[in-house]
Amino acid sequence: MKVLVIGSGGREHALCWAIARSPRVNEVVCAPGNGGIAQAARCVPVDQRNLSDLLRVVSAESPDLVVIGPELPLSLGLADELQRRSIPVFGPTRAAAMLETSKSFAKRFMQRHQIPTAHFAACNSQEEALAALDLFHLPVVIKADGLAAGKGVLICESKAEARDAIAGLFSGKLLGAAESTLVMEEFLTGDELSFLVICDGKHASPLVPAQDHKRIGEGDTGLNTGGMGAYSTDAMLDPQMRDWILHRIVYPTLDGMAAEDMPFCGVLYLGLMMTARGPMVLEYNARFGDPETQAILMRLESDLVDALQAAVEGRLSAAELRWTPGASACVVAASAGYPGSYKTGFPITGLDQAAKVPGVQIFHAGTSLSNGEIVTSGGRVLGVTAVATTLEDALHQAYKALAHIHFEGITYRRDIGHRALKQQP
Ligand code: AMP
Ligand code: GLY
Repeated sequence: MKVLVIGSGGREHALCWAIARSPRVNEVVCAPGNGGIAQAARCVPVDQRNLSDLLRVVSAESPDLVVIGPELPLSLGLADELQRRSIPVFGPTRAAAMLETSKSFAKRFMQRHQIPTAHFAACNSQEEALAALDLFHLPVVIKADGLAAGKGVLICESKAEARDAIAGLFSGKLLGAAESTLVMEEFLTGDELSFLVICDGKHASPLVPAQDHKRIGEGDTGLNTGGMGAYSTDAMLDPQMRDWILHRIVYPTLDGMAAEDMPFCGVLYLGLMMTARGPMVLEYNARFGDPETQAILMRLESDLVDALQAAVEGRLSAAELRWTPGASACVVAASAGYPGSYKTGFPITGLDQAAKVPGVQIFHAGTSLSNGEIVTSGGRVLGVTAVATTLEDALHQAYKALAHIHFEGITYRRDIGHRALKQQP
């Protein structure tokens, strides 16, 4: 088989790495890929924001399976176009991806199907939003309706802050483009959990649970980022709670989408808050998470391609995912200044030595090859990931590998997994 992966981040590096391990795959191509992916796959250039350019690459490569990593190509309708051309594609249609691309759609959908989520109001004007504000306790959560690369959620501690957020979103001052809809919602408390399932439209195969660290600073402080690290352990979710989530959240979502003629095929990612009232959906994503995927796939023992293909062919129940018991952790090394502005082009050293640390894989996010040398090219640069029998060991190995790696301004959190470590008996 020849598999084409769309995307250029750490998630796509982990996908290419896992796909290349399948004995059924003889070629992995990644468009556009990055400096590290080039070691696991053949990279071909593409403009990921341009549907016709994406389709050009798919026709040129004629792969047996296309795996779409990020949300943007999904929102452009890449999966719809490939389905129309009878090219096997793992990833939801544009309509099904609305679970991620429109928060007001997702909230109304959950309301229609009694899926537990925070109370909300969807507002189409500043006046409507200001009126709705009186109905909520503080803090109140205000969200841009559309894709905002992790910058669209504001937790407001005062009414004045909320009014500024509302004005900023509708005027375009906050995100660059003016929003026409926002979602206001009740603030929930609890532990967050990323629960991902592979879906074929009807059935779901759960992946091991994970948790990510969204904030830049240690102790979960400072600005939100794309994710500074993630970890996965069996202890994060007991089987009873897992079944509850499957029966009360995952299957009602799949059944609801199918009943509304938008069957969901791809990865359904539930961002959950484990509240005192039980698990509630904070958000859906219509794709693998980044950096959760790096940690999750390190624990996968069975063949990822078997599962992806079964999902595409609507026979997922036949594909069983097997996992390494224990734990994994991914620590992200970022450029100084991220998530604000940062410089790129710095050579990265120590990668070979770091890769020799037992249990470690280094997934590249923002790197490129320049005259045969790996250099930084993005905010999140590397995801140093390790698998071990305990979370302590996985973290120990990942940090040991990181100690070998250097580039100018390298920044990473030293407290990945801290909550889980504290909760251990
Ligand atoms: P989202 O993109 O909707 O997942 O939101 C990003 C982050 O904002 C989440 O991971 C939570 O940490 C936080 N968040 C979103 N919605 C809520 C909520 N209703 N209550 C508390 N925190 C929230
Ligand atoms: N790690 C969060 C996300 O992928 O959206």
